[in-house]
Amino acid sequence: MDIINEGKAKAKVHLSKVVSKHLPVFYNPLMEFNRTVSVYLLNSIDNREMQLALPLEASGIRGIRFLKELPKDKIKSISMNDINPEAVRMMKVNLKLNKINSKSKIQLFNKDANIFILESKGFDYIDIDPFGSPNIFLDSAIKRLGRNGILAVTATDTGCLAGSFPAACRRKYWAVPQRNSTMHENGLRILIRKIQLIGSDHSKALVPIYSYSKDHYFRTFLRCEKGKRKVDHIIRQHGMLNDAGPLWLGQLFDRSIAKKISEQAPENRFLKLIASESKISIPGFYNLPKLAKKYKFEMMNIQKLIKKIRKAGYKASLTHFAESSIRSDIPLEKLLKILK
Ligand SMILES: C[S@@+](CC[C@H](N)C(=O)[O-])C[C@H]1O[C@@H](n2cnc3c(N)ncnc32)[C@H](O)[C@@H]1O
Repeated sequence: MDIINEGKAKAKVHLSKVVSKHLPVFYNPLMEFNRTVSVYLLNSIDNREMQLALPLEASGIRGIRFLKELPKDKIKSISMNDINPEAVRMMKVNLKLNKINSKSKIQLFNKDANIFILESKGFDYIDIDPFGSPNIFLDSAIKRLGRNGILAVTATDTGCLAGSFPAACRRKYWAVPQRNSTMHENGLRILIRKIQLIGSDHSKALVPIYSYSKDHYFRTFLRCEKGKRKVDHIIRQHGMLNDAGPLWLGQLFDRSIAKKISEQAPENRFLKLIASESKISIPGFYNLPKLAKKYKFEMMNIQKLIKKIRKAGYKASLTHFAESSIRSDIPLEKLLKILK
């Protein structure tokens, strides 16, 4: 076993060349960014005295980072659970390693995640971070998510959501994916709609406040609002995007949260990109190489193009979803006039 440093935490973990779910206790160094963004997000929202739940916690690293990196008044309690008894043993070892002794705030559980969540009184933040699809944990998590609470969801079955396995996507996410230049955004939006449909079963409207696609996974944070009208408003924003969907056509990010997140790591280009594209709440983006091929024009410098679009009175930004692509509210005919 190795001792690693991540954020302000240390942890004893199993490092392996091949990261797989067969590790004695799961730890993926590539997911450090996923955990860091969760810290930034909790730092960027006003909620205080939150009751946090980590139903699929593995080594304890995420919870320990929350305890070490968030302001004291942010966390009222933190409950960490894993079905693997060895993981719960590692959580104890790692809490000790980090000299965390706020025992009254922390509770550890060794249960199936759904049972752990359903036996609780409810939480203000629930982090669903599974192997593969989050689907089987959504119903219980949404049921126990309080008003104004945050549901954080990771999905690593991106092949299915982004169009490599259309039948699996239809079966699991009730939508048709497309394998094209916008497949990652479409896949993330298909995932969001599925979460929202489970929310509608409980009269809970789940509004995305920060969402992204990176490496092998999708991640979204949704704020829970209660009430049938609010759910109706969400459902009205489901529809098709080109030939993909039905999917979520509304906002992927809360603009002010995206700004606050980026400000916590000003050097991070990825977070900066999201802060920039969060100002444009238009689903989909223009992929320039694809347009150039279809409409036969020479590629223009992308920064120059963004300036020209803005000069024409429209919004424009690069997108984190794909290279050489622009999110903009400019209609295609007007964009082509600039490009030709
Ligand atoms: C992807 S890992 C979680 C990683 C962790 N959240 C992190 O940031 O390092 C998924 C974890 O879920 C646990 N798990 C799988 N199925 C479960 C279930 N039904 N209930 C509870 N835990 C489960 C696994 O033992 C594993 O530790």
